[in-house]
This record gives sequence, structure tokens and C-alpha cells, in this order.
Amino acid sequence: MKDRALLTLAIETSCDETAAAVLCGGRTVLSNVISSQIDVHRVFGGVVPEIASRCHLERINAVVDRALADAGIRFGDADLIGVTQGPGLVGALLVGIATAKAYALALDRPIVGVHHIKAHICAAYLEHAELTPPFLALVVSGGHTDLVRVQGYNAYTVLGRTRDDALGEAFDKVARALHLPYPGGPAIDRAARDGNPRAVAFKRVLLEKDSLDFSFSGVKTGVLNHLNAEKQAGRDVNVADVAASFQQSVVEVVVAKTLRAAESSGETRVVMAGGVASNSLLRAALGEACRARGLRLYCPSPLLCTDNAAMVGAAAYFKYSEQGADDLALDAFPNLPL
Ligand code: KG4
Ligand code: ZN
Repeated sequence: MKDRALLTLAIETSCDETAAAVLCGGRTVLSNVISSQIDVHRVFGGVVPEIASRCHLERINAVVDRALADAGIRFGDADLIGVTQGPGLVGALLVGIATAKAYALALDRPIVGVHHIKAHICAAYLEHAELTPPFLALVVSGGHTDLVRVQGYNAYTVLGRTRDDALGEAFDKVARALHLPYPGGPAIDRAARDGNPRAVAFKRVLLEKDSLDFSFSGVKTGVLNHLNAEKQAGRDVNVADVAASFQQSVVEVVVAKTLRAAESSGETRVVMAGGVASNSLLRAALGEACRARGLRLYCPSPLLCTDNAAMVGAAAYFKYSEQGADDLALDAFPNLPL
């Protein structure tokens, strides 16, 4: 074993960001390169899986080279290769996995497959050296909305999850109905700044009394019904008001459920992760609610909330440290469970 901290080369290609990063140990980011495909998919109003795979293929080698160069290390210096294994788009995942395997084989280095949602949670370790499990994690992304108890670096228990749409998916669908540009989440976040969050009373769906599950399809339908009613009445829609009212209704639910989960699990530290964790209202509202309850909130910088490979490097490091390496039979799992 070398006497310096492990250098991990990490690769993330689960959706529409081609990303590579180099980490020193589990918490120090030496480089974090993200090549976003947003401009490519924008004309289609959403991610087109086939096009995403092809873009990853075209970009991955240059992105990895850039990550190595930014970190000031050479091809042969990486000690460990980490890669997202799932969940995600299968063709997109396979590009990252094939690349990671090629590096692992050429360099004769261990390879570790990483769960994308666990990686989102591990993003919190990168900016908070003092953060160690146990804690409660709220994961809000385009494909997931989960409340997770993190009992160890590799011990996760799901306390609640969405029964229908993920939170990011609801943002994206409402944005599309409002004719806001893709990607919808950030567009709603921006539009809502000029709107009145009390203008339209969308339902707060809290489900059964003690449930930590979520449901966002009802509020999405509520927005569509409101837009139809306004159209039929011949009234102009105030996009900023609808965006602000929708955002307010879902943020209130997410904050309430997170506080409920903290109370029932007894955790006093809360990590918020995933793309929607960069939403300005959610950050402010959850921050205030946690302060009022004496809970400590850890929320990564926006760049580490949306998809990136630095978080994959952290997850790979902690998995390798406790569980060792995977082998080159490592495969993609589009529905990999937490
Ligand atoms: O974690 P992520 O980058 O990819 C997945 O793993 O899904 O999350 C993407 C999701 C998208 O639905 C996007 O609209 C949403 O995160 N998002 C936001 C914001 N930034 C990204 N939603 C609300 N407000 C934002 N500022
Ligand atoms: Zn993600």
C-alpha cells in the first residue's frame, strides 16, 4: 500500500452529464469535470436516451483526460477506478462502465461500481470534513425522492420514497406545461422569484398520518387542471404565480416529511442531496426549519447537487475501504435498488 492517500478516478454517465473527477482520499476533490448535454437535448424537451449514449461516447475520453490534467496527475497515477453502475439509462451507464473497465484493465487497478443515489448522498462528505454517519438523508433528484437513514458509510435504510413522480420529474412536467425552457427545475426556480407563492392553493399531499412516503402526481395534475380552467375562462396565466405556488406546495411537503423523519429516527443531522437540492426555496425553507428544531443541515454546493463524478469518487472510496473491489464482470443496472 502506498503511504499517500488513495487517488480515485471516478466516472459518471448515468443520464445526460458526461463527468469525470479525481479525488485524494474520500473527501478531497482534485478535479471535477462535467460536460453537460443540456443543449443537445433541449430541442427535444427532455433527455433522449439514444442520443445521450452517443454523446457520452463522443465525450468521455476527453472528459477523463481533462480530469487527470486538472488534478495534475498522469494516466498511471490513479489507484482506484470508480464508476456509476445504476440506476440510470442503460446505454448511458454502459459507456461509463466500459471506459472504467478499460482503465482498470490497462492500469491493473481495482474497480468499484457505485449506486448513483448513494453517490448523491456522499457529495455531502466533500465539503464537510466533520460529517460522519449516522445521519438522515433527503434525496431529491429527477428520478428519486427518498428519505434515507444512513447508519454507516455503506449502510442505508430507506424510510420513505415517492409512490409516483419524483420531485424533479414533477418540476420538469410542470415547467413543460408552463412552456418554460428545459431543464424545467431551474426554470421554475427562476420564474418563481417574481411570483406570489399564495396565488393558487395547490394541495399539500401528506398521505397517511405517519407515512414518510411522498406523492407528487396530484399536485402536477392540479397545475394542469388550473391551467385548463384559466384557458377556458379566457384568462391569461400568470406563469410566475403558478410556478411560485407549485414550488411552495411541494417544498412545504418535503420540509414537513423531512422533519417528521428526523423526529421518528432520532437523527439530529440532515443531509440534502440530488439535483432538486439546488432549488433556492427548498434550501432556504429546509435550512430555516432545521435551525428552528435544532437540527444541523448539510447541503452540498449546487454544482455538487446535480450530477457529477466527484460524488461518485467519494462513494467509490468509502465502498472500497469497507468492502473491497468489484471485478471486471461489473455490469449496468438501470433499476439498481438502494
Ligand atoms: O440529480 P440530478 O442532476 O439527476 C438525476 O439523478 O435525476 O437531478 C436532475 C433534476 C431535474 O429534474 C432538474 O429539473 C432538477 O433536478 N433541478 C431542479 C433545480 N436544479 C435541478 N429542480 C428545482 N430547482 C432547481 N434549481
Ligand atoms: Zn443524479
